[in-house]
Amino acid sequence: MKTALITGASRGLGRALARTLARDGWNLVVDARDAAALSAVAAETGATAIPGDVADPAHRAALARAAGSGLDLLVNNASTLGPTPMPRLASLPAGALADTFATNVLAPLALIQAVLPGLRERRGAILNITSDAAVEGYETWGGYGASKAALEQLSNVLAAEEPDVAVWWADPGEMNTAMLRAAGEDADAAPPPEEAAAALHRLVSGRLPSGRYRAADLAAAP
Ligand SMILES: NC(=O)c1ccc[n+]([C@@H]2O[C@H](COP(=O)([O-])OP(=O)(O)OC[C@H]3O[C@@H](n4cnc5c(N)ncnc54)[C@H](OP(=O)(O)O)[C@@H]3O)[C@@H](O)[C@H]2O)c1
Repeated sequence: MKTALITGASRGLGRALARTLARDGWNLVVDARDAAALSAVAAETGATAIPGDVADPAHRAALARAAGSGLDLLVNNASTLGPTPMPRLASLPAGALADTFATNVLAPLALIQAVLPGLRERRGAILNITSDAAVEGYETWGGYGASKAALEQLSNVLAAEEPDVAVWWADPGEMNTAMLRAAGEDADAAPPPEEAAAALHRLVSGRLPSGRYRAADLAAAP
């Protein structure tokens, strides 16, 4: 049985991915800070729940331990918008940007480093969830967007450095989730995260080449 570690799996896209992979027979390790919400997902999917904050090194060590040497897929999905309402760059506090990078960039890289030897050996895969905010100039999305751009470029270089591991970085598109609502957008008008999860599952089921993907393109592909 294949094993995946999914961060931020208590709701939204992470939960949808957990449900999709569980249906596909995967063994799962999941995290999120809210232990109660996470344990509901664990009960539903049979996942091992390790509650905590990805920005905490001790928690990341616990995740790597739970995943063990038999990990086949790491999904770096947990993410923060930074302060909300999102400030324009002219008034973004440096400390807030540092916190955003700690969760959205440093934590994913640290998790990758922790599990990479096993992934190399098993010819596993890494899926980093990014955003169109990484490449578009949306007002007030500068801190979050810069963190996602950094995650994209880390992924790009990692893909070049690690030929035995599939490295995907993917924009899921707008989804009706707590994050989009917290950003002040009309989340109800966006599709459910289950649609993006089904599209992103194609990366895994087809072991597509390393690279940048958009869920909308994957969904439209034959
Ligand atoms: N929604 C969109 O329209 C959209 C568009 C483009 C990209 N994305 C990306 O898609 C991914 C999923 O977003 P979403 O919309 O599903 O967000 P969401 O509904 O807010 O879910 C985020 C998940 O991550 C967990 N999480 C957040 N911070 C964490 C931390 N520091 N440590 C551990 N877990 C943490 C949350 O649980 P706790 O709060 O309990 O920790 C929750 O399970 C993110 O990478 C996001 O940037 C979303």
